[in-house]
Amino acid sequence: MTLGKSITKAVIPAAGMGTRFLPATKAMPKEMLPVVDRPAIQYVVEEAARAGLDDILMITGRSKRALEDHFDREPGLERALELKGDTERLAAIHEASELGPIHYVRQGEAKGLGHAVLCASQHVGDDPFAVLLGDDLIDEAEDLLTTMMEVQQKTGGSVIALIEVDPAQISAYGCADVSAIDGEDFVRVKSLVEKPSVSEAPSNLAVIGRYVLHPSVFGVLETTEPGRGGEIQLTDALQTLAAGEGEGSGVYGVVFKGRRYDTGDKLSYLKAVITMASERVEFGEELKVWMKAFVS
Ligand code: UTP
Repeated sequence: MTLGKSITKAVIPAAGMGTRFLPATKAMPKEMLPVVDRPAIQYVVEEAARAGLDDILMITGRSKRALEDHFDREPGLERALELKGDTERLAAIHEASELGPIHYVRQGEAKGLGHAVLCASQHVGDDPFAVLLGDDLIDEAEDLLTTMMEVQQKTGGSVIALIEVDPAQISAYGCADVSAIDGEDFVRVKSLVEKPSVSEAPSNLAVIGRYVLHPSVFGVLETTEPGRGGEIQLTDALQTLAAGEGEGSGVYGVVFKGRRYDTGDKLSYLKAVITMASERVEFGEELKVWMKAFVS
């Protein structure tokens, strides 16, 4: 019985091709795009660490070496900063390499998010685990992941995060049909569909990049055929778990109301940069004054 096993593992898929952000992502992973002064992926790893997940597995692929280098030590740079006495920047580069050991596995070919998650099966084994998409940023003030882990522990199933979107935008997301559960602030997911057309969509609840999954998802993914876009879709495997019965089945949703950005999307990326920059103590106020003048 998996129910109650504590969750320590986070899987961070970062092997996608990032076509929406071309040409910037031709030779550079989209997860390395800077949000103010840190690459997007660093916020994601920090979020996992804050939630107490100390075993991190990143799914990477070709052209993704920068990701591994970023979380590694860089003795040459460290020595240069030490010689200059630049303790502030030294501390800043240490932040990334001190986030704990990060493991890596390569997804030989970008066959979809479901396939990327399946690449984690050997590392994860038989415990529930979190999945954080490497290009999805959740406001630091929120404890979405912790809430989702609690729901997983309570239900023993898999948990997804949902946001309400404008119905016209639903075809850019996985979409969930849900029902309320008496006395609970999370919902039961009745069915899921990946990127439905506006007329097919069962709701305006969109799946975002945080999951806490029961390990039975691996068995399902092994037999999940390529779906939308010819990719093995995690949404399709979750649909199977939502419709199934017995241990490990059942999918639940936490509806998230806070701020979230998809840094793989140009407009959402720009919003993330502007919002987070305007909140920085060093230059936030000055930036806001400049933005007011710029807009007017
Ligand atoms: P996206 O659909 O946002 O990634 O996948 P993508 O395919 O890179 O994006 P576009 O549409 O081409 O711009 C969500 C997450 O899943 C990872 C991505 O790196 C991203 O973090 N992913 C996706 C993989 O790791 N492997 C895949 O085969 C596909």
